[in-house]
Order: sequence, then structure tokens, then C-alpha cells
Amino acid sequence: MHEIGTVISAPFPPNSNEFWFVLNDNKGIPVRKGQFIQLQSEQGLLIARVAEITKTNKYFERADSVSEFEKSGKPLHEQFPVGRWEYLTAQANLIGIYEDGIHKRASFPPSPGTKVSKVDEGILFGFLGLDKERGLNIGKIEFHGLDAKLNLTKLFQKHCAILAQTGFGKSFLTSVLIEELLDRSLVHGRPAVIVVDPHGEYTGFSDDENYVSKTKIFNEKSISIATRNLSERQICEFQPRITDVARRELGKIIKSLRDSRKVYDMRELIEGVEASNIPDRTKYPLVSWLSDLDDTGLFGTNDSPNVDELASEGQLSILDLSEFIQSRQKQMIVTYFAKKLFAARRSNRIHPFILIVEEAHQFAPEQEERSSAISKNIIETIAREGRKFLASLVLISQRPVQLSTTALSQCNSNIILRVSNPYDLKHIGESCEGVTKDILDALPGLKVGEALVTGEVVRYPLLVNVRERKSMQSKNAISFEDALANFQNRKSSDKKDLETFM
Ligand SMILES: Nc1ncnc2c1ncn2[C@@H]1O[C@H](COP(=O)(O)OP(=O)(O)OP(=O)(O)O)[C@@H](O)[C@H]1O
Ligand SMILES: [Mg+2]
Repeated sequence: MHEIGTVISAPFPPNSNEFWFVLNDNKGIPVRKGQFIQLQSEQGLLIARVAEITKTNKYFERADSVSEFEKSGKPLHEQFPVGRWEYLTAQANLIGIYEDGIHKRASFPPSPGTKVSKVDEGILFGFLGLDKERGLNIGKIEFHGLDAKLNLTKLFQKHCAILAQTGFGKSFLTSVLIEELLDRSLVHGRPAVIVVDPHGEYTGFSDDENYVSKTKIFNEKSISIATRNLSERQICEFQPRITDVARRELGKIIKSLRDSRKVYDMRELIEGVEASNIPDRTKYPLVSWLSDLDDTGLFGTNDSPNVDELASEGQLSILDLSEFIQSRQKQMIVTYFAKKLFAARRSNRIHPFILIVEEAHQFAPEQEERSSAISKNIIETIAREGRKFLASLVLISQRPVQLSTTALSQCNSNIILRVSNPYDLKHIGESCEGVTKDILDALPGLKVGEALVTGEVVRYPLLVNVRERKSMQSKNAISFEDALANFQNRKSSDKKDLETFM
């Protein structure tokens, strides 16, 4: 065991929460703030974390002596052996006792004089609740160089939120998680992964030879909702302006179309309304509301994709919504497919899935009129009930303050990258369990690629350096400069083509 120091009883005696220790070697850098350490006590093996490191030197404690001695013109180090009297002391927080794989709360202080050591890596793995065999490797634990292998059940079963301000690596980290899920061995079980991708940030998976066979992309050209699957209630959810009277009439028309066993799209449903004998004052507004839905171009004769295509074992399905212009269209798609997925999962008809929702605040906003947040309901329902049915949510947002508190508070694990907006920090503190003040204080200082993992998935908040990704980044995710260069090159090659042509 690598001893690094000794517990002391100054500036305060040790208690059951914190203690101080002096470092054996005051020259090197044997410990860093944030590092885990261990010490043996009568209660068992104590695990602690360095909260602060301080340097002291008796020669420099009194302002009057330092000033008087230096007036002679010679610095103090030339007059006295000051270097020999410099000490590094560290303050550490006790975070638990770990014995035979069991974790307990520390309830008694270590004795002054107890030796402090670097933490044994195997012990740290077990103490943090990481999964050495099957864990999802998202990077390295800061200061320890150990793989942060997160347990799949703890991370996803009770949902997960990935939060950070824009440009600090949410999609990058999510891609790393997806790689880990897709690369998982068959014997360990593989969930279906479905991504709601409003900006086409994940389409790189289908350009990558290692992942193309496991990736399906559904976009503006292929997504369609089967009109005949929609009840009048669902249509009213998409078009909340429909009145109760019109809704009753619509119900009758849908029933007669279904009875005739006809396969119909929205246009044909509208024709059904036009041909019906309902009063004009109900008919014409209804036709106009349904035409408005028809204009979205989403309502055809079949579901594409169907739930089996969306949720297949070990496969990634991307709902690429980047070509849809209206946010209403995107919300309708999320509402419809998330409901279908959840219903199929409830009745155990499809493979257990993880539904990743990018820009989650757009689909489950905290404060929004009912009409413009139709997808909020189903996201909150999966957040509340999904756990029982192996339907997991990963909510990703750069504006946590705008994300539904109900949904966010159901996410028992959080991976948070840099956040500096005070309103977002406050909302994270209020809605995410286990996010303490220390964590909130650390978030504005994180760099790109640094992630704080907290909640159910780890026994203690963990700073992780996210690993490099293996998959290709989407073309939509290139930098501003690269995009400018590409645009310039395209312009020059277009010009050449034109010159050749002329
Ligand atoms: N762990 C990392 N290692 C190396 N580069 C990274 C890492 N994380 C992010 N980056 C880089 O930072 C940039 C922004 O990352 P990313 O697109 O994931 O951010 P984001 O949080 O999803 O932003 P937005 O909110 O705009 O969607 C990317 O170009 C990516 O290459
Ligand atoms: Mg992103």
C-alpha cells in the first residue's frame, strides 16, 4: 500500500465527517484535490476524498518577523533553513467504510497518527459501485486513470439525464454511450437504442463501417404515421382546436371508415368528413383542422417505422428530425412513436429499449401551453412508469431550467458537463437528487470532455474524462471553420463544373 501521510489533530481534531493529514513528502505531488484515499481504522477501511490541500511554514507565520528579517536585504531562505519547515497538509472528507464488498456510512473519526494511503484501485471500483466486467466505459476517473465503467442497470433503469450548456459535449458523450451499448456482447444482453435526433447529430453512425449494420435512420422521407391507427382522441391531441362536437362527429366517421376495412390516409379521412351529413357549421371547421394536419405531410396509410423496426435488439434507430421545419411536426412524431413504443413495451411485445431524447426541453418543456407541448405527457409518463416495463429514458438538454421538473426528477442518474448559467444550476440543484452544493460549484469550471457522474449509478459523485469516440461524428457536427472551408471548396468546384460546361 502506498502511504502518503498521517492524520493530524490540527487545525481541528478529526471528526466523523472530515480530518486533516500531513503529507509525508512535501516536494512531489502525491495527492490532488478531488482524489480518493484510504485509511485503516477500528471501524474498518475508511474511504475519503481530498477536499483541499494547504501549504504551511512556521517561518512565515508572523508578518513582523518576516518583514524585520528581510529588511536586512537578504531573503529569509538565505538566513534560515525555511525549506525544511514547509509542510503540505490536506483536508479530507470521509465518505464511507468499505469492508468485504459492503459499503457503510462512517460514523466515527480516525485517530490522529493513522496512516493515510492512496486508494487501492480494486477497492475504489467496488466502493464506487462500478461494473468491472460489463460496465459501459465512458472514460477515465480523474486522478486515478481507472476506466469509469458504469453499470447499465443503475444508469438506465431509473432513467438518466445528460445536461450541459451548448457545445460542451452532450452529444459526444451520448455517442460514446451508444457505442458501448452497440458493442456490448450478446451474452450480456443488449437493449434496443432509439434516438430522437432533432439536428441529425447521430447520423454519423450509419457512415461508419463498424456501426452501419447496426444503425437504421428514419427521416423526413421515410417517417409516416398510419392515419387509420389514430383514434379521434389522438387526432384531437395533435389538433387541440377541434371542439367536442366536432370530435364526436369525427369519431363516428372514423368508425364507419374502420368498419369498411378501408386503408385510408388523412386526405381520405377529410373526404369522408366532406361526404358526411354532419352540419356545415361543424363540418367546415373540422375539414380545415384536418387539412392543417394533412399539411404536415406526416399522415399516410402506414406506420413507418413500425415499433419492431424501431426497437430491435442491439440496434440503433435514429429518428432524424433535422429536415422537419416546424417544432409541431417533431413533437407529433415523438408523441406518436413514444406512445407506440411504450404501449408495446408494456405488453412485452418488443425488446427492452432506451429512448434517448436530444433537446428534451423542446419535447417536455417545464412551462408551455398544452397545445405546443403535446409530447410532454408521454415523456413524463415514461419517466414515471417506464422503470417497471424496461423502457428507459435518457433526457439530454442544454437548458435544464426549461425541462419538465417531473421528467428531470425521475432521472435517478445524471451526467453533467459544464453548466454556468445560474438559473440552470439552481434548477439542477432542485430537480436532480444527489446533486449537492459542491457539485453545483464545480460545474462552471468543467472543461470540454469533463463530466460529473452523479446519482444512482455511482456511490459517490465522480469526475470523468470522457474517452475518445470510436464512431464517426455526423457531418452536421463539424466546426464552423471546417464548414466554411467545405463551403468554399464546394463553390470553387461548382465554378469549375460551370466553366467546363460552358
Ligand atoms: N470528450 C471529448 N473529447 C474530445 N472532443 C470533444 C469531447 N466532447 C466534446 N468534444 C468536442 O466538442 C464539440 C461540441 O461537442 P458536442 O457537439 O457533443 O456538444 P453538445 O453539448 O452536444 O452541444 P449542443 O448543445 O450544441 O448540441 C464537438 O465538436 C466535439 O468534437
Ligand atoms: Mg448536441
